[in-house]
Amino acid sequence: MLEFEDVQAARERVSETSRRTPLSYTYTFSSMTGADVHLKQEMLQRTGAFKIRGATNRIATLAEEQLTNGVVTASAGNHAQAVALAATRMGVDAKVVMPEDAPIQKIKATRAYGAAVVLDGVDYDEAVERAREIERVEGRYYLHAFDDWEVMAGQGTIGLEIVETLPEVETVVVPIGGGGLISGMATALKGYDPSIRVVGVQAEGASSAAPSLEKGERVELDGVDTIADGIATRSVGEKPFQVIGERVDEVVTVSDAEIAVAIVTLLEREKTLVEGAGAVPLAALLEGRFDYEADETIALTLCGGNIDMNMLSTIIIRGLAETGRYLRVRTVLPDRPGALDSLVEIISREEANIYAIRHDRTSRDVSVDAAEVEIDLETRGHDHVEALIDALEAGGYEITVLA
Ligand SMILES: Cc1ncc(COP(=O)(O)O)c(C=O)c1O
Repeated sequence: MLEFEDVQAARERVSETSRRTPLSYTYTFSSMTGADVHLKQEMLQRTGAFKIRGATNRIATLAEEQLTNGVVTASAGNHAQAVALAATRMGVDAKVVMPEDAPIQKIKATRAYGAAVVLDGVDYDEAVERAREIERVEGRYYLHAFDDWEVMAGQGTIGLEIVETLPEVETVVVPIGGGGLISGMATALKGYDPSIRVVGVQAEGASSAAPSLEKGERVELDGVDTIADGIATRSVGEKPFQVIGERVDEVVTVSDAEIAVAIVTLLEREKTLVEGAGAVPLAALLEGRFDYEADETIALTLCGGNIDMNMLSTIIIRGLAETGRYLRVRTVLPDRPGALDSLVEIISREEANIYAIRHDRTSRDVSVDAAEVEIDLETRGHDHVEALIDALEAGGYEITVLA
């Protein structure tokens, strides 16, 4: 079992390669919720996520003979970069197997941090198979991303930093993928003060922890589907499951739409960029997924900031659409001069701004004397969207909302 002392022992080792990240009070989210909200800004960590802590502690606690042939791991994301940098800084040879379709930026970053990258497998599971084969053939140490006591102890150092800066903290909110992060943090927090509440958050499309706790054994999902790729895991690890069962007070879930809104809100209000996994604690808070008292001191773990820029642009549109700031509608117009003008006039009267407009007379979905129109609009919130659609419908247009 993981103990408080293991996390304390990790502290010094982890400081060799990682930085102490800021924990800052947020006026915006405190006033939005009535709680006293603080953000642990782990997206400012080296490599852009907390994973460097666990990888460093694992490597630092291996015996010399276990490191003779280097380390190997499989990862599609943050763990790959973390192992690459931790190993390089500690003079250990590292090989990382990434799925063939891993994002090019992540492959480049992992190589730049000094690891040899092997591209193999259609997904993470196949990459793991290849990494296990390399472990056997080359005699490398397999460095697991979460199912490892020393990895968990390393991640737990985030919890120590939180209580050092904010000893009065009452609730800490932590994302759960394989469960290594929350296991380490819960051990640190409960070891410091057993009354600190630890709330775990999963994405609805990758929610294995709550059913596992309910059943009393680990549940493996058939598949995962979420924009939060850092926590898109089919099951929590065997070791984390033991710790979570003992030390995590609540596990809640949030939807992809809620995650998108949290990402956009963090960007807009805090000027802070997080990836999907890093946004789930804020999504859970804003959606009221756990109860809290007025003025309760709450820390949110913003665990990573590595988000693909194409994905970010999609998420921004989704987040804006969810909050009524962006609208895409479809309608059909008679195909005659001035028809578009009349439609645009209503939009202009309602003071919505047009981003883009597509007018298609050749669409097979409408009759030959009609044109299909799709319009992207900038709007000012749900009330504005409602008023605009009412006005268009009152003008005789049949409106389909696309986004
Ligand atoms: C940014 C980010 N957040 C959260 C997690 C989940 O961590 P764990 O698998 O230890 O639960 C990961 C794991 O890759 C991650 O990269």
